Amino acid sequence: MLRICFVCLGNICRSPMAEFVMKDLVRREGLDGELFIFSAGTAGYHDGEDMHFKTKSKLKEKGIAASGFKSQKLTAQICAKSDFIVVMDESNYQNTRALCQRANVSAGKILKMCDFAPELGYSKVPDPWYSGDFDETYHILSKTCESLLEKLKKDLEKDKRERLFRAF
Ligand code: 4NP
Repeated sequence: MLRICFVCLGNICRSPMAEFVMKDLVRREGLDGELFIFSAGTAGYHDGEDMHFKTKSKLKEKGIAASGFKSQKLTAQICAKSDFIVVMDESNYQNTRALCQRANVSAGKILKMCDFAPELGYSKVPDPWYSGDFDETYHILSKTCESLLEKLKKDLEKDKRERLFRAF
């Protein structure tokens, strides 16, 4: 089981959208038992709240159910238990790295979302809390999640091969 945590600032717009887009892809591929997908925010502004209503309606428009969500603040414990932490922008990266360093967790597990679709020409996932553009968020996250999933599938295959190798 690989644990993937998506991280943004408030954990109500970008990272919940990434979480549910990815959960949908994972379900379609039948990988629910192998990939555990969740999300958190570097700030705890909305702890315990549901995602932004526009994030929810964008997901619904795309046929993706998103119930039972509760915003949470990123902690050192979450960093420690995640195999990969996927951040939306440079500020998320710096804050997550500082948290990892304080907790003696390898910062090598932090990945930048936009690195998974360089062809889109974005260096960060712009924050729709400020831009109001949830279409843009979905456009970027649907592409980046697809290519992140391809990477994760390769990691799972590698894990399986290594486990098989050790069994002999
Ligand atoms: P997110 O967007 O990081 O994509 O969830 C934000 C949500 C809330 C706030 C800032 C950004 N806020 O300041 O409350």
